[in-house]
Formats: sequence, C-alpha cells, structure tokens
Amino acid sequence: ISAPAQAPAAWLAGPPPAVPRPHASHKGTWGDVAVIGGAPGMAGAVLLAASAALHAGAGRVFVGALDERAAALDSAQPELMMRAWETLDLRAMSVACGCGGGEAVRAVLPKVLSTARALVLDADALNAIAADTQLQALLRARGQRGRATVITPHPLEAARLLGRGTADVQGDRLSAARDLAGRFACVAVLKGSGTVIAAPDRAPFINPTGNARLATPGTGDVLAGLMAARLGTSDDAQQAAAGAVFDHGLAADRWPPAETLTASALARGLVG
Ligand code: APR
Ligand code: MG
Repeated sequence: ISAPAQAPAAWLAGPPPAVPRPHASHKGTWGDVAVIGGAPGMAGAVLLAASAALHAGAGRVFVGALDERAAALDSAQPELMMRAWETLDLRAMSVACGCGGGEAVRAVLPKVLSTARALVLDADALNAIAADTQLQALLRARGQRGRATVITPHPLEAARLLGRGTADVQGDRLSAARDLAGRFACVAVLKGSGTVIAAPDRAPFINPTGNARLATPGTGDVLAGLMAARLGTSDDAQQAAAGAVFDHGLAADRWPPAETLTASALARGLVG
C-alpha cells in the first residue's frame, strides 16, 4: 500500500493499523451481553465469562450475579456492570447463563428461557434443565420460535441431558451432539477434544483447533462469554457458535509454550 500524496508524517512509516470496526459504529452496534450465574462461592465463573464477552468486543456487558454480595465485586473489572439479575431486561440481550450457577440458577431459568433474545446455556443451567421437564419444554419452545439458542455441555453435562452414560456419549460424540440438537431444538456444542457443533437439520462441524492446555478450570466459562458476544451480532447461531469454538481453540494453539494457560489470561487475550 502506498502512502497518499499529502500523507501525514506518521504515514511515511506505513499506513495506520486497520481498525476492524466501521468508523460510524457505537456501543449499541456491538450488542448488549448479560452473564447470569455466580452463586455464592462461584463468582469467578461469571466474571470469567463476562471478561471474555468484553474482550471479544461486546458493546456493553452486564453481570447478573446470583450472589447478592456480588456488588462487592464491582471493582473486579470496572468495564463490567453489576446488576441484580431481576432488573435486567433480557429482550434485547445476548445472554450467557449458568456459569457457576449452582442450585440457584434454577430460579432464573424460566425468565431467561422465555425472554432472552439470544442465549448460551452452560454448566449448572444445563444440569438444572436435565432434571426438569418444564425447563426442557421452555428450551424447545425457544427453538420453535426461532430464538438463537446454544447449549455448551461437556461430556458429563451432555450425558445428564440425554439420560445416558458419559462413556456412551464419548463413544459416539457426533451422534450425541446431533441427538442433543434434535431433542432440544437448539445448537448443541459438545465440548472436549474435537468439539462438535450440531444444529437441527444441518450438517455438524467438528472443530479442528484447541489442545489439552484448555483442560484447566474456567476455560468453559470463557467460551460461554465469547459465544454470547458472537451470538449477539450474528444471524446464524451455528456459525457463531462454531466461530467462537474455533477462535477459543486457536488462542490456545498460539499460546506461548513457556507460559501457563489460565482462563483469565485466555479471556484477556481475546480480541474483538
Ligand atoms: N482439547 C481441546 N479442547 C479442550 C481439551 C482438549 N484436550 N480439554 C478441554 N478443552 C476445552 C473444552 O472443549 C472446553 O471448551 O476446554 C473447555 C473446558 O470447558 P469445561 O469442560 O466446561 O470446563 P470448565 O467449566 O472451564 O471447568 C471445569 O466444570 O464440571 C465443572 O465443576 C467442574 O470446576 C469444574 C469445571
Ligand atoms: Mg464448564
């Protein structure tokens, strides 16, 4: 690329770095994300997911913590907005629900399932849904109304959702992911080595990136937050989910060999 004729001096060393955003965009362009979870003793999970959504480029990130003392976390990351989950209007938001949710997440799920514009369900949200047929019906109803919905179970969570054993799920991961997508009318991301991203009536993807350095606590929470950010600005939930899984794995593949991969550093390293 050659410099323009009247180049400012700084251009003589090369053009300025590309900014991957339209100049006339604002916070609203990049979507509101809400992360709901973090029961007492598990605030870290919800903060990791929220940090991932923020670094992945979400316009605004709200944290609906299930621990009422979570306001004390206000200084953990000043860009995040701590709220009581009941006060969040989820109708225009992309929501990640369940990270560190504990038993308390059960109470928020009816509202979250019925109102969130786009939704990523992880961890304890999935455990609650596995144990409750009414929540399962609400989950299926979202798909039938065309609402973007992704579930992100690891193999044990998938086994609970399917009422099968973990070895059985791992024995045929492709059909387990397809069964989940069909049964719950949503995108199903079966995590682990070779993450499968399945959607009803569409060909599944098998993710080629990622490695065992991701086998450290909290990387699943980072994925949920990243995915909620991507889902909020996409009209294809399976593509958005697959892209998030790919980039999460790619970050791990590019991790400096001499540095330990931690979930919080992984979240901070996301770019969007
Ligand atoms: N290859 C590729 N990706 C991997 C590998 C691997 N060998 N191992 C793990 N991963 C990826 C998964 O695909 C997933 O994206 O790392 C992430 C791990 O997510 P989870 O299994 O949800 O783990 P996480 O929630 O971060 O932490 C474990 O989950 O079961 C609970 O209470 C348990 O504290 C524990 C927590
Ligand atoms: Mg997890």
